[in-house]
Amino acid sequence: DEDGYDLWLRYRPLERAAQQRIQVRSIVLPGAPSPTTDAALAELNKGLSGMTGRAPASAARISDGALLLATPARLPELAAAASPLRTELAALGDEGYLLRQARIQGRNVTLIAANSDIGLLYGAFAWLRETAAPAASRALAVSSAPKLQLRLLNHWDNLDRTVERGYAGQSIWDWWALPDIKDQRYTDYARANASLGINGTVLNNVNSKPEVLTAPFIAKAAAVADVLRPYGIKVYLSARFSTPLELHETATADPLAPEVQQWWRAKADEIYQAIPDFGGFLVKANSEGQPGPQDYHRTHADGANMLAAAVAPHKGIVMWRAFVYAPKGAHLADDRAKQAYEEFKPLDGKFAANVLVQVKNGAIDFQPREPFHPLFGAMPKTPLMMEFQITKEYLGYSTDLAYLGAMFEETLESDTKAAGTVAQTLSGMAGVANIGSDRNWAGSHFDQANWYAYGRLAWNPQAKSRDIAAEWAALTFSPDQRVAAPIVDMLMMSRETVVDYMTPLGLHHLMGTSHHHGPAPWVDNLERPDWNPVYYHRADRNGIGFNRTATGSSALQQYAPEIARQYADPRTTPEQLLLWFHHLPWDYAMPSGRTLWAELLARYDKGVAGTKSLHARWVVLKPLIDARRYTEVEQRLARQINNAILWRDASIAYFQSVSGLPLPPGVQAPA
Ligand code: GCU
Repeated sequence: DEDGYDLWLRYRPLERAAQQRIQVRSIVLPGAPSPTTDAALAELNKGLSGMTGRAPASAARISDGALLLATPARLPELAAAASPLRTELAALGDEGYLLRQARIQGRNVTLIAANSDIGLLYGAFAWLRETAAPAASRALAVSSAPKLQLRLLNHWDNLDRTVERGYAGQSIWDWWALPDIKDQRYTDYARANASLGINGTVLNNVNSKPEVLTAPFIAKAAAVADVLRPYGIKVYLSARFSTPLELHETATADPLAPEVQQWWRAKADEIYQAIPDFGGFLVKANSEGQPGPQDYHRTHADGANMLAAAVAPHKGIVMWRAFVYAPKGAHLADDRAKQAYEEFKPLDGKFAANVLVQVKNGAIDFQPREPFHPLFGAMPKTPLMMEFQITKEYLGYSTDLAYLGAMFEETLESDTKAAGTVAQTLSGMAGVANIGSDRNWAGSHFDQANWYAYGRLAWNPQAKSRDIAAEWAALTFSPDQRVAAPIVDMLMMSRETVVDYMTPLGLHHLMGTSHHHGPAPWVDNLERPDWNPVYYHRADRNGIGFNRTATGSSALQQYAPEIARQYADPRTTPEQLLLWFHHLPWDYAMPSGRTLWAELLARYDKGVAGTKSLHARWVVLKPLIDARRYTEVEQRLARQINNAILWRDASIAYFQSVSGLPLPPGVQAPA
């Protein structure tokens, strides 16, 4: 019974022909084993036993047909001046690996080579991936190294095991049972993440609590860190800026107060005693009511640098979030989208060397589509991290199918016209995890693809989301193209479908208040204007859209001049972002020849049609998919059709009530 627990690490028996192609007679690891090579060997054994029915013996000597795991330190041949692999390896850094059919000590072997044991573990996972979903008789010639140093998950998990914006059950971190009881899930979590190259995880919510930095929780975090360490995954914690004050251990949380600086230094020392390779802190400050340095009239840089000084002696880092918007002030009346840039851009060059500024992909909040955040390309002196949301807060939770790989790719390949693509401006990536204690981890089978795509893009931000989808479908369902190919098509159409039925043509932030599921474009009475959907769509009798040009909020000026010029005119603004930047009359002539009003209606219809198509494509796969997963997916796709119809009908009815326009001929009023 396939329940999804194994994720993409299923290792189901291969077809006979594929089995015969794997000629592994033994596994050889020269030199002393380490916890990390133990993990690699265990995974290879698990994988090979699953796929071929038997696990090859471990051997001390290299013989023909060996699967050889080696670093230059373990196998002097790799370090020898004459070795052709030597230079290739040298270019792969600490975490890269290469896979090769090679002749070593006169024997024909399959080689997994790297510069470190972690590289070997990554290489083992890569070899298993190649083996489980073989590309037709291709010679094994893989070499790979991560483009980003920091590849993190951010858990928005609370200490009571609820998960902010989590749709996959309780938090996997069982704080009550830790540190003594370490769930097997932690190891499986580590395996899954290491298979993608994720090398760090922030265990707790950015809306943090002081308790997480007290001794009992440090001990619990240390127990998790012990499980994750062999897999190359460092533990980080979200720190609440006012922690010392709230714990009544200082009289202030002012970052320039010596007692505060001293408190954090001592706290860092205490954490590093328990977790010698602790990664550092993630901080949400002066945003949505969280405390921060501005409470003391200090800047984000003052706050970040104070924490950075505390962890610097231990080589720790601080990831300081740029997701800020004020509870009061000018931006309420003007444009919330501008605030992060206005607060952070002037601080470029003022952050300590071990601070990274973590920026959401777009300037509002994880919408189904946003233009890339204007801070990318605008902070040349500050290392930036991308923050993507893997959990689908605004894209239908874990019920609606939306493959985020396509969305992540769209942002990463956007040209900043200042510093190359967004991907090229990054030093790291963080993904807000969609992981919970549901049997299938992510709340739905297809949401596993979003975790997978995130991890693969963190390793290589230039990878193509379609290739990643193909890999995932082959590993998770079947390498049989009758199964994998249609699943890839479903994945690739899914995100645009969601955009069409929720927020077409650049609309945004129209979701139901606080839960963010389902439409509520009519809401206009919340305590803060910038929480109201009407603030964002600005529809009235004359038109719709948010004018962010010079005649509106001027948010467009935060982009490079070339982009600002291009998007200043609706005619040269990409259609998919039209109403993000412009307020246009309902009868504005669209490139399709339709009026804006008719185009909007057509998009909603297209979205609904898309969900029906997703369902229809799945239903025909029934004979080829295991029963449990088939049914669990089918039920969600059926419900997605209803979600889409609700979005369309509610949105059209509301906008029609505002515009007073008739429905075009042929369009039925919702019953
Ligand atoms: C969104 C989300 C919050 C979250 C916040 C953040 O606003 O709805 O739940 O805390 O983002 O990223 O900090």
